[in-house]
Amino acid sequence: MRADSGLDDAKVIPMMRGSEVLMSEASCRCFEPLPRDRWAEHPHFPSQVLLLGSHQNFRRLSKTLVAAGSVERDVEAGRGRLEARQASFDQWQRSMRSHEHYEEHKLYPFLRHRFGVSTAQLERGHEALHAIERVLRSAANDGDAARWAATMARFDVVLHEHLRDEEDLVIPCLLALEPREFTRYYHSSIGELLATPSCGAALQA
Ligand SMILES: [Fe+2]
Ligand SMILES: [Fe+2]
Repeated sequence: MRADSGLDDAKVIPMMRGSEVLMSEASCRCFEPLPRDRWAEHPHFPSQVLLLGSHQNFRRLSKTLVAAGSVERDVEAGRGRLEARQASFDQWQRSMRSHEHYEEHKLYPFLRHRFGVSTAQLERGHEALHAIERVLRSAANDGDAARWAATMARFDVVLHEHLRDEEDLVIPCLLALEPREFTRYYHSSIGELLATPSCGAALQA
């Protein structure tokens, strides 16, 4: 077991090359890991995938801001231009925070309950992004275009890692649900979802 997994009987499940996920032993018996290059073959794809559309938007917005920062980092950028880039970043982060709130308050608790997976790494990913965001805002407040550009480039790298890790855990789990259960997940509150037996509990009953 990984010391930080919070799972007493966790096993490491390879999800794709270079990536792995922790899952309880009971849940391993009712879950088949599916690598990214086979998601599209699954009969529940794309009707049972969530997050991917938002994640593509996040990658696109991040790329745009990295490009805007790198163009101006070596020239004497006007403070107004830097403020405008920071304002664009802040506007994007408002929708990211709403996305993260959904993940941390409904999706992650459901996956932990239903499949016995650990979401600790994903939550640390959110915290890492928030820490870089504070440095970015400080660079904007100081009018430091070069530091802003370097920090935005770092944010982009950490963002890509987080989105990849998140998709590698979440998408195979969602695809593994029967359509009726996916619909129930979609329309139910987290309180209702947590009141139903988990996969492991159902097997042990
Ligand atoms: Fe996400
Ligand atoms: Fe996330």
